[in-house]
Amino acid sequence: MWTLVKIKIFPWLALWMFFLLWNTIEAQTRYTIPEELDVGSVVGNIAKDLGFDIAKISDRKLRIAPGAGKQYFAVDLGKGELIVNERIDRESLCGQSASCLLPLQVIIEDPLQFYRVEVEILDINDNSPLFMSGENTIKVPESTLSGVRFRLETAQDRDVGINYLRSYSLNKNDFFALNVKNNKDGTKVAELVLEKTVDREQQPVHNLILTAVDGGTPARSGTTHVTVMVIDINDNAPSFDQDLYEIQLSENAIPGALVLTVRANDLDEGPNSKIEYSFESHTAESIQKLFVINEDTGAITLTDALDYEKSPSYKFDVCARDKGTPSMEAHSSVQVTIVDVNDNSPEITITSSPKPVREDAPVGTMVALISAKDLDSGENGQVSLRMSSDYPFKLNPSFADHYALVTHSTLDREKYPEYRIELEASDSGSPALTSIKIITVNILDVNDNPPVFSQPSYTVYVRENNAAGSIMCSVSASDPDKGENAKISYSILDSKVQDVSVSSYIYINSDNGSIYSMHSFDYEKLKVFQIQVQAKDHGSPSLNSNVKVHVFILDQNDNAPAVIYPSTVMGSVSHQKMPRSAKAGHLATKISAVDADSGHNAWISYRLVEATDSSLFSVNLYTGEVRTKRAVSEQDDSSQRLLIEIQDNGEPVQSATVTVNILLEDGLHEPISDFRQKTVEPSKRNSKITFYLIISLASVSVLSLLTFLILVVKCVRNSRSSSSCCIRRADSDGYKNPNRNLQLQLNTDGPIKYVEVLGGDMLSQSQSFRSCLSPVSEFSDFTLVKPSSTTDFQDMINVLDASLPDSAWTFESQQVSAATL
Ligand SMILES: *[C@@H]1O[C@H](CO)[C@@H](O)[C@H](O)[C@H]1NC(C)=O
Repeated sequence: MWTLVKIKIFPWLALWMFFLLWNTIEAQTRYTIPEELDVGSVVGNIAKDLGFDIAKISDRKLRIAPGAGKQYFAVDLGKGELIVNERIDRESLCGQSASCLLPLQVIIEDPLQFYRVEVEILDINDNSPLFMSGENTIKVPESTLSGVRFRLETAQDRDVGINYLRSYSLNKNDFFALNVKNNKDGTKVAELVLEKTVDREQQPVHNLILTAVDGGTPARSGTTHVTVMVIDINDNAPSFDQDLYEIQLSENAIPGALVLTVRANDLDEGPNSKIEYSFESHTAESIQKLFVINEDTGAITLTDALDYEKSPSYKFDVCARDKGTPSMEAHSSVQVTIVDVNDNSPEITITSSPKPVREDAPVGTMVALISAKDLDSGENGQVSLRMSSDYPFKLNPSFADHYALVTHSTLDREKYPEYRIELEASDSGSPALTSIKIITVNILDVNDNPPVFSQPSYTVYVRENNAAGSIMCSVSASDPDKGENAKISYSILDSKVQDVSVSSYIYINSDNGSIYSMHSFDYEKLKVFQIQVQAKDHGSPSLNSNVKVHVFILDQNDNAPAVIYPSTVMGSVSHQKMPRSAKAGHLATKISAVDADSGHNAWISYRLVEATDSSLFSVNLYTGEVRTKRAVSEQDDSSQRLLIEIQDNGEPVQSATVTVNILLEDGLHEPISDFRQKTVEPSKRNSKITFYLIISLASVSVLSLLTFLILVVKCVRNSRSSSSCCIRRADSDGYKNPNRNLQLQLNTDGPIKYVEVLGGDMLSQSQSFRSCLSPVSEFSDFTLVKPSSTTDFQDMINVLDASLPDSAWTFESQQVSAATL
């Protein structure tokens, strides 16, 4: 059955087997079978082929001699067939040898016979071509010329003959072709042929499949992967992503700040694509100092401070170089535009420095030219200039950034000799920057102020009998102007004092205003006068002002009292008479004396210095009355001599003496009739005198009041300059304020001696008069000592004089007190 089938399948094989079988008969029996038959498959009827009786083979024990290794075959004793006992693999039995014979020993007993049988194993295509490695890698440098061959792995096929590897094939691709080389030993070697230059940058890897096909039917094949790695060569230059990099950078960017990063790509790989950045070799040193580029990253950073005002923009070239061999490079430009920041304060420049200005300069006089600039641009550079406070100046915008500083109102050097003008410039940036400059404008003096005396008027007190040429006082004037305009000369304006030119009395130091007397003054002749002093500055034209100086001569005790009663020739003795019948207290006589001086210097006191009998007479200290102390007795000498000293109250005291001889007579009744110049009847006159006295006192009071009021008004006006200069008489209460008040001065220590009316202002100091009252019990003298000057009071005193008759009056009491008056 199997053989038939076999013959059907392999007709040529059956034919060949028949030939073999015939051969076997000749020499040896040979079977031919394909490998890989199933176990039990019939190889041939060996009993028949060897000529045995099928019925006897079992008894004669037909069998295959066991050999070394496997028992591939067995004998079916029933049918006498040789059958496959075990699967036969030709490749493992015979390898690559072209024929494969398995020799068998067939043994049969009774009689024991040996037969050689050969079984030829035929190859069937049971093995595919096989590549040892599933993966093959071939490295092809790019730019390799086409036609270059690369050897591929050879496939193995265990089959032989027609079943052996017959051809290779490559999958379809654009770059590679396959070339199969036949070696002399019949093996085939596949080669990859580069048909077209590969470009790694386009396709770095090509995946190919190599297929090996054998010649069997059906043919079997095996494949392997061929990976073609394209090896990079530096065939691509780097390329910047921009031809020009533009960036804006703030002027205040700090050193170290990143400006921008340039980036270049290189299509190559490895070192060929590793890029090194740098500045172009011709880049200016100033830029290389300001910027630095990172070799690896292309980051450009700032290394120094920017200044828009120095350079508002920078342009430079950068270079990218790969590390291939040889290296390739690319170039690009960087444009850095600096954005201005308001980092410059305005600058104030004095184009023409301020000239001193005359204080009388008209409004609009130009003083200085000033410019204000700012190095920034745009708003940041727009400057406005102003003065930070009010000055009598104005800024007038002039050409370009200039301003003219001109006067805006009138100036006064005496108030402001110089101006420190603060100028403030500010730009329009945000925040705005300002700067300040101070300029000094000096004001030149003009002689516009006359000298001014330190007092509105001066009062000088000079003692009479002063030494001629002594300094009396000093006046001083000041002038607020400057230099020569403030330099003052003093002079005395000519006038007449008692018909004599004042210049013969007074001299003034023209430099310092010290006033000297050129005369010794006599109070009794001249009590007051006034002079006009002029102060004149040295300006051109010069200015002057005048002041009045009132000179008051102060009294000194330079006159001794003069005895007017009893009248005596110098050194002689005055003779008086009195009745011996006189009782105690009898007025023997009365000494009367006057003193040409004034005030205290004219207060007179009387003192008994020597007496024949000092117990008999006494002299009233104040009145000069000589009275008996007791009744005259018969024992008293008829001639009594009295030495009376008359003293004034001055310092030093001046005195005079008078010697009175009193003759005591019997029967003399009319007392002291002869020493009175005019006789009056006291009883009749008393009331009349009192009346006149009251009227005169009232008149004086009214006048005093009027004068007082006038003085008060004047005083208020002059109250600002109340101080008076020079010498004062400090020891005299009565003269302390001679020009201020009208005083009614009353001596109150003891009996009234006099009433003194001091009146008038300083112009009429001489308007004082004095009445010395001699209060006597029975007889009195009224003596009026008139002032010696010519004043308004003169008339008043004349009136008083006329109204008082030449008479004496008697006070009722010696104890009239001040309060009653
Ligand atoms: C003025 O000058 C004279 C002479 O040099 C001097 O004696 C007098 O004291 C001066 N007067 C003043 C107020 O300086």
